[in-house]
Amino acid sequence: MKVFTSLEEWKRLRPGLTGSLGLVPTMGFLHEGHLSLTRRAVAENDLSVVWIFVNPKQFGDGADLEAYPRDMERDLALLEAGRVDYVLAPPAGEVYPPDFQTLVTVEALSKPLEGAGRPGHFQGVATVVAKMISLTQPARAYFGQKDGQQCVVVRRMVADLSMLTEIVVCPTVRDADGLALSSRNVRLTPEQRRAAPVLHRALSAAQESIAAGERNADTVRLKMRAVLDAEPLAHTEYASLADAESLEECGTETGAVTGTVMASLAVRFGEVRLIDNVLIEVD
Ligand code: PAF
Repeated sequence: MKVFTSLEEWKRLRPGLTGSLGLVPTMGFLHEGHLSLTRRAVAENDLSVVWIFVNPKQFGDGADLEAYPRDMERDLALLEAGRVDYVLAPPAGEVYPPDFQTLVTVEALSKPLEGAGRPGHFQGVATVVAKMISLTQPARAYFGQKDGQQCVVVRRMVADLSMLTEIVVCPTVRDADGLALSSRNVRLTPEQRRAAPVLHRALSAAQESIAAGERNADTVRLKMRAVLDAEPLAHTEYASLADAESLEECGTETGAVTGTVMASLAVRFGEVRLIDNVLIEVD
């Protein structure tokens, strides 16, 4: 495995690489969710590259950026064991030099859900993902369903800008009690950690209610809220049921739930903000 901190050095190597390349974008502090992506990238491509960069452009407040956990030594050991070929771990000054001035905006899809509470977040994500794709020219790039809106935004950007990369979305990896793996989970106190599976229970309530025939979106949202409200440590930011492609809330006109929908949540436990979602096929 070769680690690049210099993007210039990588740029000199890339044109000489042959065969398909699989890209796994990450912000480091890797867990089993990331490793499920790297395993696929390694299995499905001739070469694999993992990007590790805590992207300042997608963090609203400096405190959250500072608090984001980091452990480069451990990350590299995990990737080496996973037979990854290349790691790009550039310093912020290389990704965004002082004269940097290009930003990628995916308009409507960036506005609801995560975008509503975190203005500029998806512009930061789209900009850095566009940069990674330009630099690495991957046949495939792997993302986790856990960041459901991110997957939708990145797919739109790749289609709109006619990028040749295929976006592969992999299932959310969960702990045994249902909590979706996230680098932020280590910041939960033991008490908050015990409470956090309430997100998964609320999403399961939405799934079960739709499976039992419920087609009124407000009723489904209220069911998720009721589960979350029963957990005193959980402070809900949103409980959404939206079209999985347009991200428009279901039922704003008719109350109906149809097609593929995404139930998604953002919930705070003290300082730690967790998100999760499930896709539900409605017949
Ligand atoms: O999902 C993440 O970890 C980040 O948003 C990504 C895609 C690596 C961009 O910084």
